[in-house]
Amino acid sequence: MSHSLFLNLFLLQMNVASRLLSTARVAIRTSTRTTAGTPSSLYRFPRIQRDGYATEATPASEAVKKVSEELKVASEVPPPSGLSEPEDQGRNWSKSYHGLSEQAFSKEIADVLMAPVEPLDIEIKPDGMIYLPEIKYRRILNKAFGPGGWGLAPRTETNVGPKVVSREYALVCQGRLVAIARGEQEYFDPSGIPTATESCKSNALMRCCKDLGIASELWDPRFIREFKAKFCVEVFAEHLPTKKKKKLYRRKDQPKFSYPYQE
Ligand SMILES: *[C@@H]1O[C@H](CO)[C@@H](O)[C@H](O)[C@H]1NC(C)=O
Repeated sequence: MSHSLFLNLFLLQMNVASRLLSTARVAIRTSTRTTAGTPSSLYRFPRIQRDGYATEATPASEAVKKVSEELKVASEVPPPSGLSEPEDQGRNWSKSYHGLSEQAFSKEIADVLMAPVEPLDIEIKPDGMIYLPEIKYRRILNKAFGPGGWGLAPRTETNVGPKVVSREYALVCQGRLVAIARGEQEYFDPSGIPTATESCKSNALMRCCKDLGIASELWDPRFIREFKAKFCVEVFAEHLPTKKKKKLYRRKDQPKFSYPYQE
């Protein structure tokens, strides 16, 4: 038996013993004040739930049976993910807001998060939307908080709609919740759902990073105009299968569009 399990079991026993004692005291006080108490109502003990909290009273024999069951369970099964105590529920990221806005991050961290984005890192989609690839967000987070100093925790189950999967995530940095965002990703075939759930997570990460000020220029219309003018070209390319001409964007330093387009 591991030490922590033994300690847990010991604490549970102590907890149960003190509860039984205090309930007995209440029962005795009640019986000396009134004459209504019958033997069975005199020995009603609180039911001990899995988390050690008492709910409504149950007869003594049942309480004891329940307690012994609990002890048996406690000695067999380690506590689930170590989040059973109420103070630990503050770090249950499916519902917690622990640490939100409590304190600003240090200047060193803030400087990394809000550093001007490197133009070489920015990509442009053929439709003209500029973006930072997901790996660059991860690099900035790693540089700011250190690998392991941040994490993305799911807050809901994955919602699989007829065309879109979505899921809410919380970005947690140094044990504090900093942002919540719902990631979304379209899919076209049920076999694409696993990949879509991954893209959905990336989408949530990028949305959360907005709250930390990472690459905030990407939402600034003036920056977008200037970036496009300096680093991108707008070309008329033919979509070969349909022979339709279309205006497309690419970085100047990237190769010309290839099939199905021809520049
Ligand atoms: C976290 O909170 C949710 C929602 O209240 C609950 O369903 C879940 O069991 C909790 N998780 C843990 C590990 O306590």
